[in-house]
Amino acid sequence: MPHLRFHLHDEAGTDALGAALSRILIPGLTIYLHGDLGTGKTTLTRALLHAAGYSGHVKSPTYTLAEPYTISLDSRPIEVIHFDLYRLGSSEEFLDAGFREHFNEHSICIIEWPEKADRVLPSPDIAILLNVEGHGRDVELQALSDKGYQCLARLKFAPNL
Ligand SMILES: Nc1ncnc2c1ncn2[C@@H]1O[C@H](COP(=O)(O)OP(=O)(O)OP(=O)(O)O)[C@@H](O)[C@H]1O
Ligand SMILES: [Mg+2]
Repeated sequence: MPHLRFHLHDEAGTDALGAALSRILIPGLTIYLHGDLGTGKTTLTRALLHAAGYSGHVKSPTYTLAEPYTISLDSRPIEVIHFDLYRLGSSEEFLDAGFREHFNEHSICIIEWPEKADRVLPSPDIAILLNVEGHGRDVELQALSDKGYQCLARLKFAPNL
């Protein structure tokens, strides 16, 4: 499968991609979000969660490192865990916090700064790469497993050109 590439002109474009992603979620999915500080990883996750039906506040888990949310998928409650590992001190900290237990076939994990725990982090089904380009963002979506491929093949997204 070729990697999908889009240009997101503004924050509304990132929100629209998050909403499109919310429609292709399946339990057990692991999504890595790559990109420098301020490229829109949290914005994308927030839009995904809100479009998936979570109506509360979605803040960056900068200090808590992980924040769980419950959404409804096919009328069943599913836990989505949003990680921001930027401030992770070590791989041991990740293991000691029990974070690996979140990676199972019932939950969905979305991880900002996966590079910070790459020795202990389960591998991704989908990787999303965000880069500043002009006033907006370039985004690339990569399917890295069969499950990720199945999901991205169903993605319906038309950027706001
Ligand atoms: N497509 C876009 N074009 C322009 N600005 C955008 C776009 N998407 C998001 N932004 C803006 O980028 C800023 C940073 O977003 P965000 O906090 O989501 O970044 P982040 O990648 O999570 O950063 P960090 O690594 O610090 O957690 C926000 O002000 C948001 O409005
Ligand atoms: Mg962030």
